[in-house]
Amino acid sequence: MRNKDFYIGTASAAHQVEGNNTNNDCWVLENIEHSVYVDKSGIACDHYNRYKEDINLMRDAGYNAYRFSIEWARIEPNEGEFDEDAINHYLDVIRYCKANGLEPFVTLHHFSSPKWLISKGGWDTESVIDNFRKYAAYVVDKIQDEVKFIMTINEANIRLQIADISKRYHLLAQQQEKSNDDVASVEGSIQMGMNLKAIMEHQALSAKEGAEAFGIEDPNAVHVFQSATDMEGDLIICKAHVAAREAIREINPNLKVGLSLSLHDFQPLEGYEDLAEEEWHKEFTHYLEFIEEDDYLGVQNYTRSIIGEGGLQPSPKGAELTDAGYEYYPEGLENVIRKVAKDYKGDLYVTENGIATENDKRRVAFIKTALEGIQNTVDDGIPVKGYLHWTLMDNFEWQKGYSLKFGLIEVNRETMERTPKESFTYLAEYNK
Ligand code: GCO
Repeated sequence: MRNKDFYIGTASAAHQVEGNNTNNDCWVLENIEHSVYVDKSGIACDHYNRYKEDINLMRDAGYNAYRFSIEWARIEPNEGEFDEDAINHYLDVIRYCKANGLEPFVTLHHFSSPKWLISKGGWDTESVIDNFRKYAAYVVDKIQDEVKFIMTINEANIRLQIADISKRYHLLAQQQEKSNDDVASVEGSIQMGMNLKAIMEHQALSAKEGAEAFGIEDPNAVHVFQSATDMEGDLIICKAHVAAREAIREINPNLKVGLSLSLHDFQPLEGYEDLAEEEWHKEFTHYLEFIEEDDYLGVQNYTRSIIGEGGLQPSPKGAELTDAGYEYYPEGLENVIRKVAKDYKGDLYVTENGIATENDKRRVAFIKTALEGIQNTVDDGIPVKGYLHWTLMDNFEWQKGYSLKFGLIEVNRETMERTPKESFTYLAEYNK
């Protein structure tokens, strides 16, 4: 790229970095007795208070963009009540970004939702469409003069992906129940020491406690964004995006509006090309009708997925794995960009790409290969306009807590001290 028009930046999400997001659904589920979260988010990286320090680090390194999310639960703590102090905080963040040479990319929803939204039915209830539209309109009305880019929903396709993982899991559990003596074969295919029976029991208790915490009768009706859904629930997300996009355009037609999708580089084994295309349709092409009128698409890729008999295959024997258990495969980004560009003709921004590793030299190598891949696509005329690395700093990796290190900056969990890694400098230098 090596041109000033190309954005080179980092990405984060409110609940993962801010700290004390006590009014959202994640906080509720972190704090039940049988939580599936290994850590509580707590103070996270105290980014809510330390954002100037963090933006200064990005400025001094030479970044020109920063993607972060606004926490809906702070903006609208109770349905229909909007907190002026909360939106003014995010205006301060936006203005500080701009005063320090960083273009803000604002995400309106990055997985976490207000507690009240889940109590009234969450993301499987049609009313969320109007709730989200009102929230988006409120925020954008306030920040419209200060920003160019709005992302409505981060990884709008994640709920279907979670449903697929859940299906695979329950299949394994059923196989285990059927023939206990085959436990090793069943658990072995998931390539980590697991006690599926205990996990299923734990999940039942967790669901019951979660429902109680939200004041919901049915333990299966806790429809947080990070939970499985069907095609109806997926359609609700798409409608919420379209409703928000239309409201945003009414407020300010000059804003660039889009969403992001979690996209895998599907690679079929011979004879499984159709199955791979089915996976791609579910993950990407079926969203086209809802994003064709967007101004851009946020592409988020971390690895490849090999498709064979029965679908997703384990990583090849001997393949290098990241700490998140994905295959180390930075080439996947170029492949995904090329596949997306066949059908989606708007601008593309890589709004997440990264690696969980304690070995920062592998992160530098990963970034180098990913950026070379983007350069190849730009050279072929594909409109990739920016690369926002996941993530700015080691943070709260949802249910896996603080164990996974995706950050370009290390954070001392005791002192909150920030220590930029070699990769933080490497990426910033790339565009100079
Ligand atoms: C996402 C995420 C991020 C994760 C990252 C690493 O938007 O895809 O859930 O919040 O931290 O993808 O798993």
